[in-house]
Parts: sequence; C-alpha cells; structure tokens
Amino acid sequence: TAVKVKKICCIGAGYVGGPTCAVIALKCPHIQVTIVDLNQTRVDAWNSLDYKLPIYEPGLEDVVRQARGRNLFFSTDVDKGILEADLIFVSVNTPTKKTGVGAGFAADLNYVELATRRIAAVATSSKIVVEKSTVPCRTAESMRTILEANSKPNARFDILSNPEFLAEGTAIDDLFRPDRVLIGSLQTPEGVDACASLAEVYANWVPRERILTVGLWSSELSKLAANAMLAQRISSINALSAICEATGANIDEVAHAIGYDSRVGPKFLKASVGFGGSCFQKDILNLVYLSESLHLSEIAAYWRQVVEMNEYQKRRFAKKVVDTLFNTITNKRITVLGFAFKADTGDTRESASISLVRDFLSEKAFVNIYDPKVEEAQIWQDLSEAVPGTPLEIIKKSVTICNDALSACTNAEAIVVATEWKEFRDIDWQVVYDSMNKPAFVFDGRMLLDAQKLKEIGFNVTVVGRGG
Ligand code: NAD
Ligand code: UGA
Repeated sequence: TAVKVKKICCIGAGYVGGPTCAVIALKCPHIQVTIVDLNQTRVDAWNSLDYKLPIYEPGLEDVVRQARGRNLFFSTDVDKGILEADLIFVSVNTPTKKTGVGAGFAADLNYVELATRRIAAVATSSKIVVEKSTVPCRTAESMRTILEANSKPNARFDILSNPEFLAEGTAIDDLFRPDRVLIGSLQTPEGVDACASLAEVYANWVPRERILTVGLWSSELSKLAANAMLAQRISSINALSAICEATGANIDEVAHAIGYDSRVGPKFLKASVGFGGSCFQKDILNLVYLSESLHLSEIAAYWRQVVEMNEYQKRRFAKKVVDTLFNTITNKRITVLGFAFKADTGDTRESASISLVRDFLSEKAFVNIYDPKVEEAQIWQDLSEAVPGTPLEIIKKSVTICNDALSACTNAEAIVVATEWKEFRDIDWQVVYDSMNKPAFVFDGRMLLDAQKLKEIGFNVTVVGRGG
C-alpha cells in the first residue's frame, strides 16, 4: 500500500527546488518540507530575515513568508534532511559536461550521483527518491543501482521521475496551476505505490486529471522532448523571421495566421533575438547526445539544427546592427536594454544579450548595459566568461553598466532591446531621442516597442522579423 508522505526533503535549493518545494509546503501544511543545499550563502539567503531570497520570481516571497518556519525549512544539514524524510526530491544542477566523453553535449551527472550516494550512505529507513532534475533517459536505473549497492539493511528505495515544467518568471503561477504534473515509475506493485504516494501530495491542489502517471523512461524522455519541441517552435519562427525581413512580410502577422490553426495554437510563437535560459540548449544537446549514442545520427542532426538556428539568429541580429550603422560600430556607443534571458527574471544563463555584447565588443564598440533585475556582478561574470582571455579590467574599459534606462541611452548611437521588460515600453523616448547622436537607431529584438511612434519621433527603427 502507498505510504502517506509526512516529511519531504529536497536536495538542491536552486531555481527549481526552492520554488517547487516552497509551494508544496504552502499547499500541504500537514507535510514538513526541508530544502537542503551545500551552498551556505544560498541557504542563508533563503533564511534571510528581510526576505532577500537568492532568486527573483514574482509571488515567491509571499509563498516563503507564509510557509517558512511553519512547515518549510532551509538548511545545509543534508544528512539530517535525508534521515528524517519519507520522500526525497533530487533537484540538483545537471549542466552540460565541459570536458571528457560527451563534452559540450552530455549532461554532467556528477551532482545527481553525489546526492544519490549521500542518500544511500545516510538513510536508515525506506525512502521514495524522486528525480526532479532534468536527466538523460534511464538515469533512474543508475540511481537505483547506486542506492541498492550501498543501502543499509531495512532501507528500501523506490525511484520516481517527476520532471519540472515551470518556466522562470512565471514559476509560482505555473506551480499553482500546472498544465500537468508528470510522474514516472516502474510498473511494479512497489513502483505504482510510490507513484500513488507522490500523486497524493500534488492532489492537495492539482486536479487529479492533470496528474499523469507513466513509465519511468517515458517520463524522463518527455522532459527532454517537451523542451526540444518548445525550442523548435522558436527556432522555426526565428527562421521565418529572416525570410520576413528579406521580403517585407511581418513575422507577427505570419505567427498570428499560423497560430490561429487550432492544431498549432497561438502561444510560444514570438520571434526574438534568440532563446536563452539554462535549459533549452542544454536539454536539446542532451537529446542530441542520446541520439548519437543510440547510433541515430539523422535524429541527432535534426535536433542539433534547432540550436544552430538559434546561434545563427543571435549572430544575424548583431550583424544587422553593424550593417545598419554604415558597416562599422568601432568606437560607437551601443546601448543594450535588458540582460536577463527573458523578462521577470534576474537569470542571465545563456541570455542572448551575452552573445550580442560579445559581438559588439569584438567590433570594438563601447557598450552600455541596463537591466532592472540583473546584479552588476553577474553581468561582469558573464562577460568575462564570454570573452575568455581578456582581463575584466580591459572589458570594463568598453562596457558601462547603468542604473536606469535613460542614463544608459544618453549619447548612444544605437539602442538594442534584448529583453522584453515592460518598463522599456514606458521610457520617455522623446527624451532619449534628444540625448542621442543622430541618426538615432533603435533595434527591437523583442517586438516590444511602438515602432510607428518611434519613427514619428525621428528614430531609425529596425524590428526583428519585420521587412522594410
Ligand atoms: P540550480 O543550479 O539553481 O540549483 C541546484 C542547487 O543544487 C545548487 O544550489 C547546488 O548548490 C545544489 N547542489 C548540487 N549538488 C548538491 C548536493 N550533492 N547536495 C546538496 N545540494 C547540492 O539549478 P536549477 O535551475 O534549480 O536546476 C535544477 C535541475 O532542474 C536541473 O536539472 C535543471 O535542468 C532542471 N530544471 C530547471 C528549470 C529552470 O527553470 N531553471 C526548469 C525545469 C527543470
Ligand atoms: C523553459 C520551458 O518553458 C519550461 O517549460 C521548462 O520547465 C524550462 O524551460 C526548463 O526546463 O528549464 P524557461 O527557459 O524558464 O522555461 O523560459 P521560457 O519562457 O520557455 O523562455 C525560454 C527562452 O525562449 C527565453 O529566452 C524566451 O525569451 C524565449 N522565447 C520564448 C522566445 O524567444 N519566443 C517565444 O515565443 C517564447
């Protein structure tokens, strides 16, 4: 019979573990939820008295305020968390491998393995272990082998896959009202019972018909597949945006027309400077690696093209800026508005802005950067990683990080909108125009601004996916 879960431990207090388990605590006051992490600074931030949480997510602070100290706890005591829990989420990072076999493609499973080994070493009673991290297909099997080879007597482990589909910037909404919760288990009596225990937790606020239960391998693969299909939609629309620019068609109109077909649907069809974020590229490359290792090279090439298209879109946009500014931006000042990979997040992982700034710097331009949520230190770190071999002091001679949009735009030759922050729409563009060198150029990589109004002010406006 299914165990009734009373204590949950989540290993990994990051973008996924933090919000996901905070919401579980909020919605299940009868369950004690402890989120553990090795990173003391992160845990301290989650516990900070003034709620300076380590990640910015609309609505998150409110959830933490309600649950923290009641049935939600953050700690660096990983072992205690493991010992006490009936159910353990493994929500650690799974970045792309940088060296060794599969470098640049395969997922680095070192953190998952370390967390799994810790569970085996510490647990003195049976546990349900849940893969929350995004992992390659059949990782649960490796976890089971490790757990069983190292377990103490009386400790049985059931392994579930429960991938997370939240998007950053809307994480709390996505968790409150998920399209679906996916749980994969072995189809053994024990596996099915473990699956029922976890389903029971979600059923506290998610309608039963949205809780999908499938086999372990389907669940693991569905996560990679979902991200690959979403990213493929963006690469498809971005590929069409290039045709629009060359023909005079308008990508917004084309997307609208395509999306009206109920089989396609209207969402996630916005042309852009290219997708970013920690997962799309990583998960597709992971799928490419999986395909290669199964000797399915055509399949690997198909998915790899989604990432290559995205790289092309970023380069293409940067080149458009250079071409439009009379083929040189040397010593010109370019303002980049937005550094996060999308609006409503402070996350910059794989942000298109990083590639744009790198390309502008390689053309010897000066770059001003403003983002309402990204920390200055983060921008410097991203840029020093993007331009390896160049000391930060040299980069700092060409880049200025600004505290507001207006000062970032003053004296610039061109403004590039890279993130769709709403506040950029509300800038006093007349004031900006008056402060700029002429002709004043705007490049809207997010179809965010009122191009007609800007043209009336006198700007030379280029919008992604819009022909002249
Ligand atoms: P993250 O880097 O923000 O957080 C991971 C945390 O795990 C870090 O704080 C790290 O210190 C901690 N950690 C690593 N090893 C540990 C160990 N052995 N013991 C204790 N703590 C340990 O990562 P994230 O963005 O939360 O992503 C986690 C997983 O979820 C990844 O597999 C990712 O692909 C997946 N995912 C992410 C998102 C997203 O929007 N970011 C969405 C869905 C799925
Ligand atoms: C994405 C998925 O949407 C989530 O379902 C998934 O859980 C998550 O990856 C993950 O596995 O990490 P996320 O990367 O947070 O979520 O954000 P998205 O809203 O998907 O945006 C990704 C990128 O695509 C952003 O740079 C965004 O600006 C871009 N995008 C999105 C477009 O260019 N056009 C669109 O129409 C939509």
